[in-house]
Amino acid sequence: MDTSFPETTDGNRVQDCASVGEWKVWSFDEVSSTSDVAREHPAWSAICASRQRKGRGRTGRAWVSDEGGLWLSAVIPTPGELSRWQILPLGVGWALMEVVRGLGGEDVRLRWPNDIMMGKRKLAGLLVERFHSDRVVLGIGMNIRNSPDKVDPALANIPTTLVEHVPEVPEINELIRVILAEISKLQKLIATGNFVKICEDLNRSWSCQEVELSLRGKSNKKRVFFEGVNDKGDLLVRSENQAQMSYAAAEVELLRELD
Ligand code: BTN
Repeated sequence: MDTSFPETTDGNRVQDCASVGEWKVWSFDEVSSTSDVAREHPAWSAICASRQRKGRGRTGRAWVSDEGGLWLSAVIPTPGELSRWQILPLGVGWALMEVVRGLGGEDVRLRWPNDIMMGKRKLAGLLVERFHSDRVVLGIGMNIRNSPDKVDPALANIPTTLVEHVPEVPEINELIRVILAEISKLQKLIATGNFVKICEDLNRSWSCQEVELSLRGKSNKKRVFFEGVNDKGDLLVRSENQAQMSYAAAEVELLRELD
């Protein structure tokens, strides 16, 4: 055990530190948010915890992070032009979906931009934050054996857990190893400009359907047909009059699937 980093800024003690490929993985019992701990860590650090007191999700929402789930933040180096890395959040969604499929989760799908869904229920979510110009913190929350809807009854019928969908769930540490290996591969594909190959697979993974789109700073909502993403990671939609439109992820306030 490495004792050179005994405490986080919020006073939680490290339980373990292990090397996994190029990653250094710090494990905690409980932290406020793994992404806050990861914030000041160098590239190729990963922080995981059994519980988060203040897990956060996209658009400022709270993320229930009870015992039994996978709460992980990985610090990914993003060399070169920033625009190249716009595709990363989508790519990680795709990589995680492949991990779940590899475990036998056949009904896994992506909901734009990067929610990992099992049918209509959410299995995992991703939060990518940039605190430094040379790296991003990728937060992954995946429900494994936990019960988020017991912690917050407002979540009834919204999340699902991995144990409900795959025949054998690996230990969380093993799952973290597999996920980090996939992130390493993806990082190299993007760093070398080869992500376009994955983009085609990614676009086959969406279930094309009618969605309601709200854009930032615009009050009206549009009903459009979801068509996937382009190789920059921009959202592609088609309107009823057949015109195709593209939007950068930052322009989109909300995309809601319509039944
Ligand atoms: C979403 O809204 O779908 C994204 C959820 C991301 C949750 C993860 S759990 C690990 C990391 N730490 C956090 O506080 N959030 C992310």
